[in-house]
Amino acid sequence: MKKIDTTASINGIKLPLCIMNASGVLCTTEQELSNLLNSFSGGIVTKSCTYKPRKGNVIPRYFEWNIGSINSMGLPNLGINFYLSFLEKKKINKPIFLSISGLSKEENYFLVKKANESSKITAIELNLSCPNIVEKEKMLGYDFYQISNFIENIFKFNKKPLGIKLPPYFREEHIKNMALVLNQFPIFFVTCINSLPNGLFIDPMKESVVIRPKKGFGGIGGSIIKPFALANIHKFYTYLRKDISIIGCGGISSGKDIFEHILCGASAVQIGTQFMKEGISVFERLKKELIFILEKKNYSSINSFKGKLKNF
Ligand code: SIN
Repeated sequence: MKKIDTTASINGIKLPLCIMNASGVLCTTEQELSNLLNSFSGGIVTKSCTYKPRKGNVIPRYFEWNIGSINSMGLPNLGINFYLSFLEKKKINKPIFLSISGLSKEENYFLVKKANESSKITAIELNLSCPNIVEKEKMLGYDFYQISNFIENIFKFNKKPLGIKLPPYFREEHIKNMALVLNQFPIFFVTCINSLPNGLFIDPMKESVVIRPKKGFGGIGGSIIKPFALANIHKFYTYLRKDISIIGCGGISSGKDIFEHILCGASAVQIGTQFMKEGISVFERLKKELIFILEKKNYSSINSFKGKLKNF
């Protein structure tokens, strides 16, 4: 039987496996990050950090049901200095993506500068799409006017591979316009998509919302958002410069879901809600399921079918 290659390249960054965690899920504390270092995941994305540690929003702030999740975490994190010193102490065996999500543009400039000082960080994932912060300036991922100038300023000093975590877009013109902006800069990758903002899940028995912050409104993740993730990945694959890789995120709970993300153009994938539900063993299971599909389809690597979704 042919050996199946499930490694990935994100614009030259080599991942031993094309599957990693999504920022936010079980990647905040020393213990969680150590578990990821010892796991099958092909890379590690840290919880989006700010300059100062944050407790985040009031609890309950996360809820899941059979096909989805809702969260309004509010960026609970231990502050950038914790993540930099944790990485300094550790033997690193896979690419590290430091996720940053400053509360203002100035804070983001500062955080990117700090990240540039660490040799342990492979790449920066700049999160411009957190839907849960009240005190934050307008979400930059939806601000087509400010984002260009913001990214231009970042690349005046940034020397690290840098990618951007985007919110979902629901109109083709928005994806096209965002791709036109991103194509002007030496961006390594985009991560599509963050949770669907402003969802509401309710408990009809209790006649109540299920999370406390923002009167129950939060970001929706899990299987129900997969069609939106696939649509965004495929459209960005069409409009982005070919050297900008896409990391797929949204609705993955099986090897088949990963196959679909890659078919739409993803070079690697991140697991959020399903990692939360299943824990650290999820990466090994998904790898096995992906290999099973590739064997059946007689594909030897993810590059054999990446982006090759057929139309009628
Ligand atoms: C949060 O901490 O509120 C979630 C972060 C995100 O969705 O980007």
